[in-house]
Amino acid sequence: MARILITSAIPYINGIKHLGNLVGSQLPADLFARYNRALGHEVMFICATDEHGTPAELAAAKAGKPVEAYCAEMHEVQKELAAGFRLSFDHFGRSSSQRNHRLTQHFAGKLAENGLIREVSEKQVYSIDDGRFLPDRYIEGTCPNCGYDSARGDQCDNCTKQLDPTDLINPHSTISGSTNLEVRETKHLYLMQRSLRDKLEAWIDSKTDWPILTTSIAKKWLNDGDGLQDRGITRDLHWGIPVKKGDAPWPGMEGKVFYVWFDAPIEYIACTAEWADANGLGDDAWQRWWRTDKGAADVTYYQFMGKDNVPFHTLSFPATILGSGEPWKLVDYLKSFNYLNYDGGQFSTSRGRGVFMDQALQVLPADYWRWWLLSHAPESSDAEFTWENFQTSVNKDLADVLGNLVSRVTKFAKSKFGDTIPAGGSFGAQETALIADLGARLRDYEGFMAAMEVRKAAAELRAIWVIGNEYLQSAAPWSVVKTDPEQAQAMIRLALNLIRVYAVVSAPFIPDASAAMMAALNCDDWSWPHDTSAALRTLPAGHGFAVPENLFRKITDEERADWQSRFAGIRA
Ligand code: MF3
Ligand code: ZN
Repeated sequence: MARILITSAIPYINGIKHLGNLVGSQLPADLFARYNRALGHEVMFICATDEHGTPAELAAAKAGKPVEAYCAEMHEVQKELAAGFRLSFDHFGRSSSQRNHRLTQHFAGKLAENGLIREVSEKQVYSIDDGRFLPDRYIEGTCPNCGYDSARGDQCDNCTKQLDPTDLINPHSTISGSTNLEVRETKHLYLMQRSLRDKLEAWIDSKTDWPILTTSIAKKWLNDGDGLQDRGITRDLHWGIPVKKGDAPWPGMEGKVFYVWFDAPIEYIACTAEWADANGLGDDAWQRWWRTDKGAADVTYYQFMGKDNVPFHTLSFPATILGSGEPWKLVDYLKSFNYLNYDGGQFSTSRGRGVFMDQALQVLPADYWRWWLLSHAPESSDAEFTWENFQTSVNKDLADVLGNLVSRVTKFAKSKFGDTIPAGGSFGAQETALIADLGARLRDYEGFMAAMEVRKAAAELRAIWVIGNEYLQSAAPWSVVKTDPEQAQAMIRLALNLIRVYAVVSAPFIPDASAAMMAALNCDDWSWPHDTSAALRTLPAGHGFAVPENLFRKITDEERADWQSRFAGIRA
């Protein structure tokens, strides 16, 4: 039994996530967690909400709520939706937790002790009416280069010139519109990543089994231009983790908080501590996942994320860990995803374009979405959601292939042989061939799942369902029953056992349908079919079963058209 630590990139607190966000980290991480649990491994699967930063503050202001209350509410909303999608986190935490406050301050203190933090004085725009420093993108004014009147503090969207906020003519705050701005001097902490460059490079070079996409992004940041830059890890904001050196105050840093990207990945660890707290366990319980000096040496750590998150996980977070000089676990495998587009364009949170997690569940149950999203995961390139494709996938794969097999077999068995598995006959050549074919495909499926090849695993699973249909088609127990009822009984005994195997191996993708199949079979033996032949003899003659409700319904053309216009968003 292996010990497997899995983290999904933690979603920003502001707003409900769309399906592109979901398939880029949380959903494939869940697939992998479920698969490893099914094999009997010890799994710790962690996710949380990413609650700090300017966007969270602004979203709260827009909602007319104090930021603490806003985050508490949105955390519950995201937690509900995660449960709705059957995301099986061991804990869904909050980056604003006290655990994360303490741990983030702890890491900053260690980095300072190790001489890896320096103070930098900067000039920044302060808005007197807003009572705060303004990040560059919250300042707008007229471009000195082209005269465009809504140029941002960091760049002009019209002529693309890179700008400094002080370059703008007639600058104003986009938060309040106020022009009552001044440049003030402010001090910030910088993490001296440059001095960790060689350590980081050696670590990245040791990861010979990482995908090229991941290592090339990391290498680019290590070597491009002036190479790895030192990085500001504090901000002049009200909402966030107060800057402290461990438990001690940090002179000169009063009223400042850590930068959201500094504290967010530390939440992976803090969240595991939150899990221990929530379960009444001591520090040993979470440290054995994270501290190599406290039992985590035999843990394999997997991270899941969208490609835009890769630099933070290959450089910034490892810099924090390595720089601490403490024996914390570093990631072993990093699985990253490209983007999912929506119906000829991009998902857009601001324009409400695309399907969001809450809307998806209002339209159809989780399994339908899980199946489409995972079987079309944006792995080797960006992928696109279209309603046609979704309809085809659901109607063919789920309803025609899997759903139809389950209903045909159980209905036929019940009508011919009653409520229990029939005892007659024995397996012949066709059954033996099916067992061999299924065994080979299951081994391929396991290989893809272990390698986190999500699309290939889905295709193999579908093929596993298809061979069951092909077997039934050619064995044709409904004709055989007329001439050789004993043989038909053996076929149906095999087919009912096949349904159990399908339930077990499909559960990482479609957990609700699998549970319904198992319930119909009156079975709670979820053991993995390592031995295919034995697995197809698990349910004995005389075992009771029922005909389940239709597992999947089809999507009609009318529904498809209706949903397509409903989720098109307000186009600019
Ligand atoms: N909230 C970030 C995003 O959605 C991900 C943060 S991942 C972590 O892109 F490492 F910082 F936790
Ligand atoms: Zn311009």
